[in-house]
Amino acid sequence: MIQVAMQSKSTIQSLVCTKCNTSYDHASIQQFATCCNVPLSATYDLVGQSIHSIKRELYSMWRYQFALPVLQEENIVSLQEGFTPISKLKKLAASIGIQSLSIKDESVNPTGSFKARGLSMGVSKAKELGIRKMIIPTAGNAGGAMSAYCAKAGIEATVIMPKHTAETLKEECRLYGADLILIDGLIDACGKKAREIAATTGAFDMSTMKEPYRLEGKKTLGYEIAEQYNWELPDVIIYPTGGGTGLIGIWKAFHELISMKAIHGNLPRMVLVQSEVCSPMVSRFQTGILPDTFAPKPSAAYGLAVPYPFATDMMLNVLYESNGSALTVSEQEMEMGVQRIAKTEGMLLSLEGAATFMAAEKLVASGWIKPEEKILLLNTGSWYKYR
Ligand SMILES: Cc1ncc(COP(=O)(O)O)c(C=O)c1O
Ligand SMILES: [Zn+2]
Repeated sequence: MIQVAMQSKSTIQSLVCTKCNTSYDHASIQQFATCCNVPLSATYDLVGQSIHSIKRELYSMWRYQFALPVLQEENIVSLQEGFTPISKLKKLAASIGIQSLSIKDESVNPTGSFKARGLSMGVSKAKELGIRKMIIPTAGNAGGAMSAYCAKAGIEATVIMPKHTAETLKEECRLYGADLILIDGLIDACGKKAREIAATTGAFDMSTMKEPYRLEGKKTLGYEIAEQYNWELPDVIIYPTGGGTGLIGIWKAFHELISMKAIHGNLPRMVLVQSEVCSPMVSRFQTGILPDTFAPKPSAAYGLAVPYPFATDMMLNVLYESNGSALTVSEQEMEMGVQRIAKTEGMLLSLEGAATFMAAEKLVASGWIKPEEKILLLNTGSWYKYR
């Protein structure tokens, strides 16, 4: 039977409050749901859509345009993000006593991290809505990505980054023409500064989950994983988590695919990994609270040091709904992970990526992962940028 490709234009319907479902207009500029002080989430009319709606001739995340929010194609600001490979890690799998371990390598994205997906989408939508100035607090990678996409779009960019971040991450922002401001402290201090500057300059605030569209870019990770697994998902996905956009985005994608009847079988159990030195989400998952003694410190895995994420409840929901888990790894374990994976598989991962392997090893040892289960790790960034 000949399959007729469905409409591939955006099917976006609305933006909704993730707590009370109040609808917000997607044709105007929006930040977060002010009714409940939580993130907004985009909804789509996916009735009649299917895997045949994918634009298979596009080898980037824009192949899923029907489920993305950009209305006019000329507003897409792309550097060819997404469509990243999944490789099998056979020797590492054997070394921890499991049969199937794979990794999706997001370091091959433009600007060297998965942040390219969210920022390509966020900047495209900003262009569509006529935004001329943007500001972002960042642990490092998101700032570089926003600078690159703003350069391409001709939008003014300001990046606020912790002073202790590696030189490469700072220099790339300057090279892309962004205004870079360095702050003593972690990303929450950068966020505070970004809000102050946005209030006086009118720049649009691109803080994680405080605008609705970076999530839609990260969501394409879930579409891609499903497509690469031929619509039968792995048993466990392990994700190095800071602000949570990737974790929440992957889960959102799976739900949209279910509504289109595109995926079969059980959904994966989602695992959230953080560094021992800053693990607010692991504490909340394990004990329900952030202890009084919580004292976040910088991690060498910059992306994981997010002490007060905005989307806390959404992340916890993903873990509860998926029967998932949350755990920490130490700074030393991440360094050891980088070395083990490099020596065994010939891949240099970011510390965040290595954290997912060390977490897998712990979960196998505790019996939470069974030897016959299919495990997928996410390498979210590049080792080469942290010099
Ligand atoms: C390499 C890397 N991994 C993981 C993260 C955490 O990402 P998310 O905000 O999606 O939890 C970041 C965020 O900065 C990052 O740069
Ligand atoms: Zn609300």
